[in-house]
Amino acid sequence: MSKIITIERFILENQPINARGEFTNLLYDIALAAKIIAHKTNRAGLTDILGRAGAVNIQGEQQQKLDVFADEVIFRVCDHTGRLCVMASEENEALLHIPNEYEKGSYVLVYDPLDGSSNIDVNVSIGTIFGIYRCKDWSQRGRLEDVLQPGRDLVGSGYVLYGSSTMLVYSTGQGVHGFTLDPELGEFLLSHKQMKLPNPPAYFSINHAYYPRWSPAVQKYVQWLQSGNEGKTPLSSRYIGSLVADFHRNLLRGGVFCYPSEVNQPRGKIRLVYEAAPLAFLIEQAGGYASDGFGSILNIEPTELHQRVPLFIGNRRLVEKAEYFIQMENK
Ligand code: AHG
Ligand code: MN
Ligand code: MN
Repeated sequence: MSKIITIERFILENQPINARGEFTNLLYDIALAAKIIAHKTNRAGLTDILGRAGAVNIQGEQQQKLDVFADEVIFRVCDHTGRLCVMASEENEALLHIPNEYEKGSYVLVYDPLDGSSNIDVNVSIGTIFGIYRCKDWSQRGRLEDVLQPGRDLVGSGYVLYGSSTMLVYSTGQGVHGFTLDPELGEFLLSHKQMKLPNPPAYFSINHAYYPRWSPAVQKYVQWLQSGNEGKTPLSSRYIGSLVADFHRNLLRGGVFCYPSEVNQPRGKIRLVYEAAPLAFLIEQAGGYASDGFGSILNIEPTELHQRVPLFIGNRRLVEKAEYFIQMENK
C-alpha cells in the first residue's frame, strides 16, 4: 500500500526543527476553514443559500451569500487561537482585529474568502486565496502596517480550489504542494508534491472582451500570444473568470494569466494584497514569475488595503514578454 500523507502529517514533517508549532497550527486552521467552506459550496445548489445577502429564507433566517459565509468562517476559525495579531479580507473595508478577549499571536492573515464571485451561482469553480506575514512589532496588537507588507515578505501563501474536487495548494518557501480533499475521510491528502510549471506552456488566459480598453502595448502582447509564440508550441486560450481556477490550470499545464490595466481602470482589477501577492509567491516557488508589467509583484509595497494591480502571472518567459511590450511603450 502506498504511503497516505495527510496535510497534517506533511506540515508537521516539514516544519523547521525549532518551530513552536504556531505557524503549523495556523495552516491546520486554514485547512479546517477550507473544509467547512467546501462542504457548504458543494451543497450550494441543494440549499437556499444562493441569493442575495440580506434576503430572508423560508425559515425566517437571514440568507448569506457564499462569499459572506466564507469570510465569516475564516475569521471565526482564526480569531481566538492566539496565532494571529490581525487579519484583512477582501470582503471587509477595514482591518479585522483580533477581539480583545483573545490573546494575540505573531502572524498576519490576509485572504480573499471566495474568489470568482461571478461563478458562484452558476456552478463553476471558485476558490479561496490566503497569505501569511509575520507581525512587524510583537509588542503591539495588529496595525495597518502589518498588513501592508510586500509579497516578498510572505512566510507562506496558498489557495483552495472548490472544483470537481477540493484542493488546497500552499507554499512556505520550500516548493509548492497540493492536497486533494477526500470527502469521505474529511482529510486533505498529498496529491501533488513539488509542483513546477511545465515547459512548454499550454495556455494564455485573458478576458478578450476588454481588447478595446487595453493599451496598444497590451494589445500587441496579446497578438503575440495568439500568433504562434515565436515558433515555439502555440498557446491555446482558456479563461474561466475565477482567478484561482485559471491560476491552478495554468500551474498544472503551463501558461500565463493576464489582467492588465485598462483605459478607465489604470490599476486593473486584481487586488494586490489578497490575490496578486499570495499567488505571485506561489508562482515563484513553482519556477514562474508575476509582474505588473514593470517589475515583480513581490516587490510592490502596498499603500492601501484594497489596492488593485495589473497582473501577468505564469511561465517567466511569457510574463517577461509582457514587460517587454509595456516597457517599450513607456520609454
Ligand atoms: P472576486 O470574485 O474575488 O471579486 O474576484 C474576481 C476576479 C478574479 O477571480 C477573476 O479572475 C476576475 O475577477 C474576472 O474578472 P472579469 O469578469 O472582469 O474577467
Ligand atoms: Mn478574487
Ligand atoms: Mn472575493
